[in-house]
Amino acid sequence: MNIAVLASGNGSNFEAIARACRKGRLGKVVVKVLITDKEHSYVRTRAKKFGIKDIFIDPARFSSRRAFEKEIVKVIEKDNIELIVLAGFMRILTPYFVRRFKNRIINIHPALLPVFRGTHAIERAYKRGVKVSGVTVHFVDEEVDHGPIILQEKLAMKEGEGLESFEQRVHRLEHKIYPEAIRLFCERKLKAEKRTVRIVNR
Ligand code: GRF
Repeated sequence: MNIAVLASGNGSNFEAIARACRKGRLGKVVVKVLITDKEHSYVRTRAKKFGIKDIFIDPARFSSRRAFEKEIVKVIEKDNIELIVLAGFMRILTPYFVRRFKNRIINIHPALLPVFRGTHAIERAYKRGVKVSGVTVHFVDEEVDHGPIILQEKLAMKEGEGLESFEQRVHRLEHKIYPEAIRLFCERKLKAEKRTVRIVNR
């Protein structure tokens, strides 16, 4: 089963997925292509290291978000992609794109949705003094960080823990649960029913 990863930055989640695949932990999943909107993103270096095709699509070349997304659609259709994995893709997708791939786009968010939606979620949770935070993988719908939740895992704040350490632990957790969510999708074990996702035969 072919998947595409869309990312804009560092790409540590991309790498975790690529590595899980290489180790055979994701069954028949193939990371077919990385698509990025940032020419100089580090995630491209990671893709090259894994020998995964990486495509840079420059948003500045297009007159609208929809035109930019149509270019992404072309790549996705050419490569027979079944699942689109957002991993730090710093663009809000339009309803056109989201509807076209309903329940075939997933995202990871570094907090326990529905709290701390949006950017800088780790820092905001930390500064808010939460005792427990975590990570969420969800299907993408037309609202930001809002679609049906697939997996969540929690993380307790340690007494006196610094932001950096907390951040690292959140990312480590992401790298564990994102490949797991992809595996479940690809084994067709996720059943989305309105806002609920049932996991069958886990
Ligand atoms: C992750 O924290 C993810 O939850 C958020 O963006 C960040 C991407 O990190 N959506 P990386 O580029 O995968 O290292």
